[in-house]
Amino acid sequence: MPILRSTLIALSHNRPLRRFFENSRLGARLNSRFIAGTKLEDALRVAEAVNRQGIAVTLDSLGESVTSSTEAHRAADVYHRLLDSIAGSRSSANISVKLTQMGVEQSPDLAESIVAGLAEHAHATGSFVRVDMEESRLTQITLDIVRRIHARAALRGAVGVVIQAYLYRSHSDVEQLIAEGIRVRLCKGAYDEPLEIAFPRKSQVDVNFLQLGKMLIDSRIYHAIATHDESLVAALKAHAAARAIDPARFEFQMLYGVRRDLQRRLINEGYNVRVYVPFGTEWYPYFMRRLAERPANLLFLARNFFRS
Ligand code: FDA
Repeated sequence: MPILRSTLIALSHNRPLRRFFENSRLGARLNSRFIAGTKLEDALRVAEAVNRQGIAVTLDSLGESVTSSTEAHRAADVYHRLLDSIAGSRSSANISVKLTQMGVEQSPDLAESIVAGLAEHAHATGSFVRVDMEESRLTQITLDIVRRIHARAALRGAVGVVIQAYLYRSHSDVEQLIAEGIRVRLCKGAYDEPLEIAFPRKSQVDVNFLQLGKMLIDSRIYHAIATHDESLVAALKAHAAARAIDPARFEFQMLYGVRRDLQRRLINEGYNVRVYVPFGTEWYPYFMRRLAERPANLLFLARNFFRS
């Protein structure tokens, strides 16, 4: 399975395949399980439906690795419109952004000023900006940018970051982020990283996830536990209960289209749940990472392919 995972992640960077799928009717049919739609209105409609079930959302305008500052500003404009729509509709929603979409590869300063602008807007409208974590070459710069924005008194608490349990460094990153009061989303990690820097085995990643999750919950800062792994969810619920930590002090997060049964169960049990809702035309890399996480999804893909 690790080979299939690596292959699918490698294919997520394949430009001809990306062009083909993003522009074909077949692609639109395949992506509908994981993507809300191509337009901002689609995302808002899904957000409303998810909110009606008592589940909050974080909205992701799909796109990564822009090639110019103009594209980065255009991507940021979509998020500004989203923040206005969230405020206007009083949705229980915030936004998730990727630094490669905000131009970090063109200029880290550009990405920082764009994300700071989004954090200001989010702060003014009672929302929040989560900076997703991408490949390990961007881990340090992502943490640095989030730290500097969080350190501005007027933006404290308006921005948070993501930590990947597969990285060895994450333990010390979590310690530092907790000390600084920065909100963390903990996930396992969706990219292909070398064993010099990341745990190669799933069982090791799971052990680290549990340990980091406990540290985050114990901190009593409002963090997010992002996983569909039922045994980790159960272990962290038990940990919080044993320490009498109010379930309102943290949230579970899951991806749109994945484990809706578990999302509903957690809501019924009184936990906070937020679903990550992606939308937009540039959906191919995101979609391929979802296949890599669970190669059984290829069967679902094949069924739709042969039905076309
Ligand atoms: P694991 O992969 O062990 O799966 C546990 C079970 O969940 C599976 O057995 C299956 O039942 C179900 N499942 C998991 N993935 C599925 C899928 N794609 N389709 C169907 N079922 C699936 N990563 C990253 O590197 N940077 C980031 O910023 C984020 N952000 C993020 C936000 C949110 C809200 C979530 C939930 C996840 C992320 N991720 C991420 C992705 C994360 O790193 C990881 O790749 C996936 O969550 C899959 O890992 P699980 O923790 O679900 O466990």
